[in-house]
Amino acid sequence: MAKKPLNIGLVGYGFMGRTHTNGYKRVADFFPELNYTPVLKAVCGRSEEKTKAFAEQWGYESYETDWEKLIARDDIDAIDVCTPNDTHSPISIAAAKAGKMILCEKPISRTTAEGEEMVDAVEKAGVPNTVWYNYRRLPAVSLAKQIIDSGKLGTIYHYRANFLQDWTINADLPQGGEGLWRLDAAAAGSGVTGDLLAHCIDTALWLNGGISDVSAMTETFVKERMHQLTGKMEKVSIDDACAFMCHFANGSLGLFESTRYARGHKALYTLEINGADASLRWDLHDLNRLEMYDHSDDGPQRGWKSIHVTDGDHPYMSHWWVPGLSIGYEHSFVHQVADFLKSLEEGKPCEPTFKSALETAKVCDAVLESGKTRQWINV
Ligand SMILES: NC(=O)c1ccc[n+]([C@@H]2O[C@H](COP(=O)([O-])OP(=O)(O)OC[C@H]3O[C@@H](n4cnc5c(N)ncnc54)[C@H](O)[C@@H]3O)[C@@H](O)[C@H]2O)c1
Repeated sequence: MAKKPLNIGLVGYGFMGRTHTNGYKRVADFFPELNYTPVLKAVCGRSEEKTKAFAEQWGYESYETDWEKLIARDDIDAIDVCTPNDTHSPISIAAAKAGKMILCEKPISRTTAEGEEMVDAVEKAGVPNTVWYNYRRLPAVSLAKQIIDSGKLGTIYHYRANFLQDWTINADLPQGGEGLWRLDAAAAGSGVTGDLLAHCIDTALWLNGGISDVSAMTETFVKERMHQLTGKMEKVSIDDACAFMCHFANGSLGLFESTRYARGHKALYTLEINGADASLRWDLHDLNRLEMYDHSDDGPQRGWKSIHVTDGDHPYMSHWWVPGLSIGYEHSFVHQVADFLKSLEEGKPCEPTFKSALETAKVCDAVLESGKTRQWINV
């Protein structure tokens, strides 16, 4: 049967522009059962020279230098938002008004208020939408979800997650502009909370349910940095580090930490969940493994086991190589594209939708407010 083309208009050709494009290019080969196939119709960036070069290298049919023009094109079905956080809302709202499907990078927005307008826009327009919380789509994390949903862990008592980096320790690193927008609160919204903890919170909400209240501490270690766009020393308004505790609606306690000042750590995302009957833990640096302790194992044989999540009956793995062979970080984006295409076929939402991703934004806002006020904040 001939496949239905899904014409993609990508905005932003940086880190995520590359991971998503790789997803669009790989998906038809590895998920041949899908009826839709992405077509790399156009990429949009501000520099004509760089955007054209990206289009040529990655195989886009055309390019634009203004996202409004991209959205206005009749030959684009879906807008993929891979730009800094301050642009997610205007691009998504304009795309929804033009009746385009939207795949938006995380965090959905800089604030909950901004995110609410985006949810309104996609719901009014009735367009399919999703937010790229891609860690859900790593097979080991998906397996954790299956095990938790089976009830195997029993009553959940604890959930903890870390996301650690070290790339902003140098006080001479500027803020703002190309490559450094993450240090500029106007572009990013927040620091590690919206950038890194948002991932941990999305996975936690998915695995362990809603968060009811939070108590956080945030810190900005380097108070002023040269701003690349103004050339002046300016106050740094993002959180360099954040730790928070919380109550989940299921009665369990949560502990989260993120920083860009943990010397030696480049991108270490770890999570652990402890139930009365079993525990699970996962580590991005060993992403094909899920560790499990099962208290129902025979006494003398009890201990942490390491499940190599590469077998044909593990989530997503029947689409790849043969049992025992690993896949990587980039595959989570192929899986998200595959799930999005499948959701179109089935007429179902592709989680997390804008609406579900707003729940993460609400927790982030509560965390930031708690960091400022040093009070417990209800979500
Ligand atoms: N899902 C994940 O794991 C993950 C990882 C990294 C980043 N992200 C998110 O993806 C988004 C992009 O991050 P990145 O790391 O790819 O950033 P990046 O700096 O590598 O790329 C951003 C791109 O957007 C372009 N851009 C900026 N303003 C634009 C405009 N007005 N019009 C067109 N293009 C514009 C830049 O030129 C650049 O090509 C952010 O929202 C970030 O939070 C998600």
